[in-house]
Amino acid sequence: MVTVVLVGAGQRGNIYSSYAAINPQMKLVAVAEPNDYRRETFSKKYGAKGFKDYKEINTKIADCVLICCQDALHTECLLHFASLKYDILLEKPMATTPKDCLLIHDSIVKNSCLFAVGHVLRYTKFNYKIKQLIREGTIGKVVNIQHLEPVGNWHFAHSYVRGNWHKTKDSCFSLMTKSCHDIDLINWFCNSELQYVSSFGSLNYFNKQNKPREAGLVLRCADCKINDTCPYSAKKIYQPVNEWPTTAVIVDDLIDVENLERALDKTDYGKCVYECDNDVVDNQVVNLQFKDITVSFTMIAHTQDICKRKTRIFGTDGEIDFNGNDIKVYNFTTGKQTIITREELNFTEEGHGGGDIGLISDFIKAVDKKDQEIIRAGVQETLDSHLIVFCAEEARLLNKVIDFQEWKKQFQIKIVSD
Ligand SMILES: NC(=O)c1ccc[n+]([C@@H]2O[C@H](COP(=O)([O-])OP(=O)(O)OC[C@H]3O[C@@H](n4cnc5c(N)ncnc54)[C@H](O)[C@@H]3O)[C@@H](O)[C@H]2O)c1
Repeated sequence: MVTVVLVGAGQRGNIYSSYAAINPQMKLVAVAEPNDYRRETFSKKYGAKGFKDYKEINTKIADCVLICCQDALHTECLLHFASLKYDILLEKPMATTPKDCLLIHDSIVKNSCLFAVGHVLRYTKFNYKIKQLIREGTIGKVVNIQHLEPVGNWHFAHSYVRGNWHKTKDSCFSLMTKSCHDIDLINWFCNSELQYVSSFGSLNYFNKQNKPREAGLVLRCADCKINDTCPYSAKKIYQPVNEWPTTAVIVDDLIDVENLERALDKTDYGKCVYECDNDVVDNQVVNLQFKDITVSFTMIAHTQDICKRKTRIFGTDGEIDFNGNDIKVYNFTTGKQTIITREELNFTEEGHGGGDIGLISDFIKAVDKKDQEIIRAGVQETLDSHLIVFCAEEARLLNKVIDFQEWKKQFQIKIVSD
């Protein structure tokens, strides 16, 4: 039996906890959650003891903790549980400043805790397969990577215009809150020394200037003349009512039509997307020069696909093309083409392509066996890839190419990959 404390019974906390239904070895013994409805519903479902705040848990009452509260609380919450010697799964991002990431790193090392971060992309079957193909030299030496993160137009509006991650000051910049696991994935695939970083991006669309004239001065969808035709109408985005993202809008009651209307009336989720106080960018590119590999990464809000990433990897002997469904591998020294289908990979669209369940199952296994090696990224690699994200954002803000090895000296740490 692996006993677990959950901090934050929101979207992510409930996803990881649902693994207990598949693997009875995982036993949720306590939940810390200030929202009465969420805490009581969770306690009842799992027979877990309820606490209003994680700080009320002052002793070691379980083997491990899943830290699934919002970004701004990650550091203080992790330091609290690390000092109590819990093994820790921390949701991404690790923290919102380089200094806090370092504090977390040092505390995990000092207290010898097992550590995993919510970089679920590493735990999908297709990304693991791609890593394996690279390791086996299937396309020779990697020379270039193109990686696309299509966020999805209404998804971006929900999370990064109206929702929890719309303002840098309240959470962090969008390259961190949305794309830190993409940058981590790239770093994992490259396994090489990073030399230079540049980045461009802007909040191009979701602002007052782009508000359709016909919408006039109204501030909420419910009062708007173009409510039926606007692609960002809250009325449209939150249908059907019993699924995500509606479950993120109604936080304190049953998910039904009446409660949705009430929530859209009083929260930012009912606001016009052109009238929110959002400041995070809706499009960004990052270029990375590793020692022998060039990389271009794009995050873009305006897509039909919702988070269905696409990755192309070019090597000296061939290429790997992952189109979000199948992996095509072509080797031009042998002329051989192989297609690894979604069926072969047992691919699922749900939960980040299976990455959510992949991560929690590896974490529970690792805690049970007391073996950090079972987890695909430890605290050092997590720190490394977060520093790349901070550096890229600085490059964007300063409009500069940054020498990464010089830049990271301010933190006096060694970046080790893989
Ligand atoms: N890995 C991924 O792909 C992924 C995807 C989405 C979100 N996230 C991250 O997961 C985390 C949680 O996101 P979410 O969408 O589940 O958020 P959420 O808002 O649905 O859940 C967070 C919960 O934490 C609770 N909370 C607040 N203060 C608390 C305290 N003092 N003690 C205990 N609980 C407290 C809130 O009441 C809320 O219910 C965030 O850091 C987010 O950035 C990761």
